[in-house]
Amino acid sequence: MTDLRYEDLAPIAPAPRFRPAAPPQLDHEPGFLALMTGAAAKNPLVAIPKTAFDEPYRRLRFLHLVFHGVSDPEAIKHVLLDNAANYRRPGLVRRVFRPMIGESLLNAEGESWKGQRRLMARAFAPHAVAAFAPLFAERARATADRWADRWAAADSDCVDVAEAATRTTLEVIDQALFSGQSELSFEETASHVREFLSGSVEVRLGLLLGLEALDGGPAQRRARWARRILIDRMSAFIHRRADEPDPPEDFITRLYTGFLKERPRAEAIQLTLDNAMTFFVAGHETTANAVAWALYLLSRDRQAQQWAHEEAAEAWASGAGPAEVLSRLPYLKMVWEETLRLYPPVHRIDREAIEDDEVCGHPVRKGETVTIWPWVLHRHRALWEEPDLFNPENFDPEAKAQHHRYQYIPFGAGPRICIGMGFAEAEGLILLSHWLARFHFRPVVGHTVAPCADVALRPQGGLPLIVEPAR
Ligand code: HEM
Repeated sequence: MTDLRYEDLAPIAPAPRFRPAAPPQLDHEPGFLALMTGAAAKNPLVAIPKTAFDEPYRRLRFLHLVFHGVSDPEAIKHVLLDNAANYRRPGLVRRVFRPMIGESLLNAEGESWKGQRRLMARAFAPHAVAAFAPLFAERARATADRWADRWAAADSDCVDVAEAATRTTLEVIDQALFSGQSELSFEETASHVREFLSGSVEVRLGLLLGLEALDGGPAQRRARWARRILIDRMSAFIHRRADEPDPPEDFITRLYTGFLKERPRAEAIQLTLDNAMTFFVAGHETTANAVAWALYLLSRDRQAQQWAHEEAAEAWASGAGPAEVLSRLPYLKMVWEETLRLYPPVHRIDREAIEDDEVCGHPVRKGETVTIWPWVLHRHRALWEEPDLFNPENFDPEAKAQHHRYQYIPFGAGPRICIGMGFAEAEGLILLSHWLARFHFRPVVGHTVAPCADVALRPQGGLPLIVEPAR
């Protein structure tokens, strides 16, 4: 462990805590038309009423659909853990994602889910994640070198850190899981992933009525086209891999050979493809957004950035290997956790009741949806002091010990907790610490930051920051 503790770092000057960008909370419950047609259809964060951040429970009706919005940690524990067997991903959500990810881990239920999760667990165990640390460090360095070259050439000091983080995490996932052989480069795929994610989940009447195939605005047409291109490219890679006599011993090979033990070849190929798409998208977009949001928060809080910089510079200068550096970043870890509180990349988690149940004293009928919004839970006024301010000390070990385990769930909870949690945290901390050790991040005057929630919570229109070498 490092001797440097954030309490010992010299304060710059007391400054009021920073209030990060968030849409205003509404004074009223938005009506059906506002939800279907306005900005809310594309970005549901703009349609959340104030009461949601005060109450443990809200019941909502949308056409024939009933939603139980829950922000009570005990009730969340009940749904995600204690009575998890009575809940599954809603049919609507599974239908939306099936054309892209089929019956992969993220979309599967029952025995199929259990078998897949067992097969994949080893690839994300702590020792496997530690083995990826040098790769995270190498890609962090490559991105940082590009920034340094641009700076030296006096080309530009303004960097879209959301785009840079996406490029870096995409390179990492391709190398870590596919041995760099998928040929899905950032240039060719990033815009397709974005179009797929934003077009697929827009709230539309056809979607709610189960008629999504008939329901195609321009965004949905672009999403379908983007999906086709991504699947075609990934499918070519999986077929090449299945035919290879001596393939690399990586995630994809282990999945394919694992599936082949129990299924015919065509099915094994299809399920490997479904999972390759799942891990390709889920494995880079979420982490990239978390890293970008962390840089945004630090760019607005000089004190926190100074502490994170000093800690990171010392950790990397110590000569420790990348996996060991991770244990030398206690302050940055608090910043990371606070970032995921304020900007949880997965901003909502839905479950459909298989049989009647009860949450927060309210009946939940079979087929109805319990909806848990980390965005709301993490800013709930009954659970957090000054919930809308950036305060890494919320995750000081003493403060953390006071939290209910289920008041903070950026990676979900229970049996379906994110399988990539350790991977994401190690990657996020290595990218951030490497960049913070070498650079200073400042806001771009005149740029308005706005969170937008489609599948992932991302900064709308990117996140430009001034990036200059740290002195
Ligand atoms: C900061 C980054 C990440 C966040 C915030 C995040 C968040 C989440 C959440 C909340 C869930 C649970 C959803 C639910 O219960 O309905 C989940 C599931 C999942 N995540 Fe992540 N994730 C991140 C990174 C990753 C990475 C790096 C990977 C893969 C390399 C990954 C792969 C998955 C998969 C496959 C599932 C489905 C697990 C299952 O159903 O058994 N995620 N993630």
